[in-house]
Amino acid sequence: MKIAISGKGGVGKTTLAGTLARVIAASGHKVLAIDADPDANLASAIGFPQEAVAGITPFAEMTDFIQERTGSQKGTYGGMFKLNPRVDDIPDRFSLNRENLKLLVLGTIPEGGGGCYCPESVILKYLLRHILLQRDESIILDMEAGLEHLGRGATRGIDAFIVVVEPGSRSLQTARQIRKLAGDLGVEQVYVVANKIDNDEDRNFVTDNLKEFKILGFLDYDREIVAADRRDQAPFDVNPRMVENVKTIYSNLRAGLKSAE
Ligand SMILES: Nc1ncnc2c1ncn2[C@@H]1O[C@H](COP(=O)(O)OP(=O)(O)OP(=O)(O)O)[C@@H](O)[C@H]1O
Ligand SMILES: [Mg+2]
Repeated sequence: MKIAISGKGGVGKTTLAGTLARVIAASGHKVLAIDADPDANLASAIGFPQEAVAGITPFAEMTDFIQERTGSQKGTYGGMFKLNPRVDDIPDRFSLNRENLKLLVLGTIPEGGGGCYCPESVILKYLLRHILLQRDESIILDMEAGLEHLGRGATRGIDAFIVVVEPGSRSLQTARQIRKLAGDLGVEQVYVVANKIDNDEDRNFVTDNLKEFKILGFLDYDREIVAADRRDQAPFDVNPRMVENVKTIYSNLRAGLKSAE
C-alpha cells in the first residue's frame, strides 16, 4: 500500500508516519518511508539512532549527484538538462536502513511559481513517480499539507491519503482542503486519524464534524509522547498503547482499501 500522510502543522503527521512504518515493518512487510517535509524529522520518529539522524543529507541537497544525473551545470538554471534522469538506484543507495524498513529523506522540493523546471524538481518528480509506481514495498510518505506542486504524474500510484486531525476546527478545515487536493490528484481514498484525543468530547467533536470521512482510529493525547520526543525516542519503542492503536489503524486501513478495490 502506498500512503501519503498529511494534515495541518503540528497535528502529529510525523508521529503517525514513523509509528505506522514501524508497525508495518514489525508485521514482516517491507516499508519504504519517505520524508517529504522540508523540516525533516521522520528519522527520529521511526527510531533511528541520533548518530544516523545527524548524518543524513537530504536528497535535494545532493547537488553534485543531481547535476551528474541530470547532466545539468551549476548555476545554469534554465539551461539544458535531461528530463528523464536515472532514478531507480536512488532509494537503495541513499536510504537509512533497519529491519524491513528504509527511510529516504527528500528535503525541500523546489516549487517555483509557474512551474519550476530546475534539475532538482525534475529529478524529485521522477524519483517519486518511480517510488510510487515501481517499488514493491509499502510506501509511507510524510509530507506537508500538499503535494500539489508535484502534479498528477508524480503522485499517481498513491492509494490513499491519511489526514491527521486534532480536535480543533482548523485541522478539520485542513482535512477538507486536503480531500479536495487528493481528488484533484486522482486519489479517491481519503481517511482520517484523530490524534491528541483527551476525552469523549474531543472524540465526538471529530466524528460529528467529519461525517463525510472514514475515520481509521483515535490516538490519545499522551504526555509520554511529548516526553519521548524530547528524549529523541520513537513512540514505537516507548509507548505500547500507541503501538496497539496504530496496529488497529493499520488493519482498518487495509480493510478500507480492500473494500474499495
Ligand atoms: N498523541 C499525542 N499526544 C501528545 N503529544 C503528541 C501526540 N502526537 C504528537 N504529539 C507531539 O506533538 C508534536 C508535533 O507532532 P509531529 O511532529 O508528529 O507533528 P507534525 O504534524 O508532523 O508536525 P509538522 O507539521 O511540524 O511536521 C510533537 O512534539 C509530538 O511529540
Ligand atoms: Mg512532521
